Amino acid sequence: MILLATPAQARQLAALEATQPHAAGWKEKGFQTELTQPHAQIWIHTRVEEITGFLALRSVGDFAEILNVAVSPLHTRQGIARTLLNHALAQLAEKQVKQVSLEVAQDNPPAIALYTQAGFQVLGKRKDFYAPGRDGLIMGKDL
Ligand SMILES: CC(C)(COP(=O)(O)OP(=O)(O)OC[C@H]1O[C@@H](n2cnc3c(N)ncnc32)[C@H](O)[C@@H]1OP(=O)(O)O)[C@@H](O)C(=O)NCCC(=O)NCCS
Repeated sequence: MILLATPAQARQLAALEATQPHAAGWKEKGFQTELTQPHAQIWIHTRVEEITGFLALRSVGDFAEILNVAVSPLHTRQGIARTLLNHALAQLAEKQVKQVSLEVAQDNPPAIALYTQAGFQVLGKRKDFYAPGRDGLIMGKDL
């Protein structure tokens, strides 16, 4: 099931995020803060009571940015991130959002493959963005 997260789920989201070192590193407080921002949305994928994955974004006007995505290591390669991404993109298109961007580390092939498969293209590179020698790729997609 795909739902919007609430601030009460910040702890569960932080626990999931802590299992995935390539995610953005948000802690419980960070999720709480994000979930009170007017333009922020965190979509969650759930199975029974468990949050198996999430996708955080902000959208303002006709532009959106994906800020953080993670799937529990117990549930990867089951199409959860693709389902979350497709759901979020469809919702954004309904809201007349025209362009979506994100930043991903160049040494994160699974995430780059996920976004490429969804139609994102590399728009630019931020040298040493994550650490010396770890560049960031800016990727974007028109809706
Ligand atoms: C990247 C991540 C979100 C993918 O989640 P997932 O639910 O396993 O992905 P899906 O099963 O939906 O896979 C969709 C596509 O992504 C790509 N992909 C996902 N995992 C991959 C892997 N380990 N290696 C290569 N490609 C991968 C594939 O193209 C895949 O399509 P396919 O299964 O038809 O080949 C997950 O591995 C994760 O949480 N990583 C750590 C956090 C992270 O990197 N977040 C992104 C920050 S920008």
